[in-house]
Amino acid sequence: MGSAELDEFIERVNERTDIYSVVSRYVTLTQKSGRYWGRCPFHNEKTASFSVSPDKGLFYCFGCHAGGNAFKFLSLIENITYFEAVKLQAQRLGMDLPTRKYSPEEERRRHEEKSLFKINEFAQDFYHECLIKTARGEVGRKYLAARGITAQTVETFKLGYAPDDWDNLLSNLTRRGFSPEHIEKVGLIVRRKNSSGFFDRFRGRVMIPINDIFGHTVGFGGRILKAEDESNPKYLNTPETVLFNKRKLLFGLDKSNRAISTAGAAIVVEGYMDAISLFSAGIKNVVATLGTAFTPEHVKLILRYARKIIFCYDSDEAGQKATLRALPIVQAAGAEVFIVKVPDGKDPDEFIRKHGKENFDKLIENAETLIDYRMKYVIARADLNSIGGKKAALQEILPVVVKIQDKVIRNEYEKKIAAALLLDEQLVGEEWRKFSLNNPSADTEKKLPAVKQKIPVNDAELLIKEAFETILRMIWHDGDTLDYISVMLPREIFSQVHQEILSRLEICREEGRRLDQMSATKELSEEANAELSRILMKGANNPRDTEIGFFNDAVGILRRAVLEKKYKTLLAQADEYKVSDKETYRKKVQESLKIKREIDKLKVD
Ligand code: CTP
Ligand code: MN
Repeated sequence: MGSAELDEFIERVNERTDIYSVVSRYVTLTQKSGRYWGRCPFHNEKTASFSVSPDKGLFYCFGCHAGGNAFKFLSLIENITYFEAVKLQAQRLGMDLPTRKYSPEEERRRHEEKSLFKINEFAQDFYHECLIKTARGEVGRKYLAARGITAQTVETFKLGYAPDDWDNLLSNLTRRGFSPEHIEKVGLIVRRKNSSGFFDRFRGRVMIPINDIFGHTVGFGGRILKAEDESNPKYLNTPETVLFNKRKLLFGLDKSNRAISTAGAAIVVEGYMDAISLFSAGIKNVVATLGTAFTPEHVKLILRYARKIIFCYDSDEAGQKATLRALPIVQAAGAEVFIVKVPDGKDPDEFIRKHGKENFDKLIENAETLIDYRMKYVIARADLNSIGGKKAALQEILPVVVKIQDKVIRNEYEKKIAAALLLDEQLVGEEWRKFSLNNPSADTEKKLPAVKQKIPVNDAELLIKEAFETILRMIWHDGDTLDYISVMLPREIFSQVHQEILSRLEICREEGRRLDQMSATKELSEEANAELSRILMKGANNPRDTEIGFFNDAVGILRRAVLEKKYKTLLAQADEYKVSDKETYRKKVQESLKIKREIDKLKVD
């Protein structure tokens, strides 16, 4: 299918799609003032700030700023790509999917990928049956039972047992017609060194299938039953394969993603067994890394479902170090980070088995903020007997706390730090100021675009914010107003996102087409899309003629803001020359007066 056919297909599906029926499959909606409202499925909330406008074909959440058309909604809620969402919707509408011709090479790759997935699926069944049904699986059953793992959990995670044989899996798979080359490709068998042929990678181990977010098994972790030794590591994992990439996989996410969005938070643990244990105890918003560091890809995966990430790593030194390494990655991505320290040197699995779910819930409720955690970590390791040691500790803490903007909270922390390091409060305050002066970028946290909604602090700011929105709405409806805006207002006063929308509208006008919701979703960044949806939704109830009135006011408001800024700059410049250069001073003052007159004229209009 060419791209024109694809566009046509998407268009046909879109025409028949009613966003209300798409959304109401997932969200209970009630009607209020021409729109539908419900509780946002993408973040945790008690009041309904999620709205759907059927005539615009849009949804928008005033809480988390997710927004877009029906396909966008489907792709978010089902965690699929945009095009997959179109296909899903087409299926639901009973529409035939357009057939696509693949090149022979593509055909071969698709065929191979299918076969690789099948092999993993078969292996998972094989190990699982072996665990629950066979006499050889008895040791595995005993092992899991001793660890308090119920039959239900074995079923949920499709746990298995790999018999202690050289080629049991291999011969079963080849009998089914799978080629050794393909089986090797997914890492289930290993090529013999000195003779020809292969042998099973996993032998005599409890098998934990690792799935991608769609629930397809892409790899395994295998645990030995006895104590580990050098020649026999505790866990053996699938090596990197075309399907298995540890940096991009989180164990358990296929099962926990709904719970993560409902809770608004994901709990990240280190071990498979921790995740399995928490999940089966009813803490369902949990994922585990696969014995590797936490990566930016992991953050992205989680951020699809929730903004809060709670690290609950082992309380040993290695676990704490891993936590510290993970934090900057998560913070840079704009997630909210919390840290739980499991008491008495236990891992989450041991803790919950000993103390139960309620006590684990309490640990989560009392999770520490990143700042507190870092502070404690530094203080616990500081040498408080010498001034040098205290100063060094303070220098380590400052980069963390300097991000605090709120004055009251900041003061609290100054006190806390001073008390912990036995330093004078004033001194801490001074060092803090010095540090933030020398590191101007340190005190503004990087945030993801989606949460970057600055809330206006006063009426004037609010007016200006709304003026921008009105103008964008007007240009959306009537591209010809673009020229007028270009003359009246400098482009720089628009935010980055608004500039993106404006440029896109401009391009569309040059190409003689309209930017509609469909093309917008394809042509704009995610952030710009959500912003555009929000703006259009906000104006959904305004008739066009009131919009035109608003539009003129809006241009006036922004134009005045621009001129006032210019006026102030000129006055400040004039002031600089007041003594040194009378001539320049006079010029600047004159210029500023001209602008002042323009401002006054605007006020009279
Ligand atoms: N791991 C690994 N290879 C090892 C040891 C650990 O790949 N030899 C990975 C596994 O993904 C494991 C994680 O590191 O789940 C954390 O290790 P650990 O805390 O020892 O795992 P647990 O799940 O707690 O294991 P168990 O409770 O079975 O001892
Ligand atoms: Mn453990």
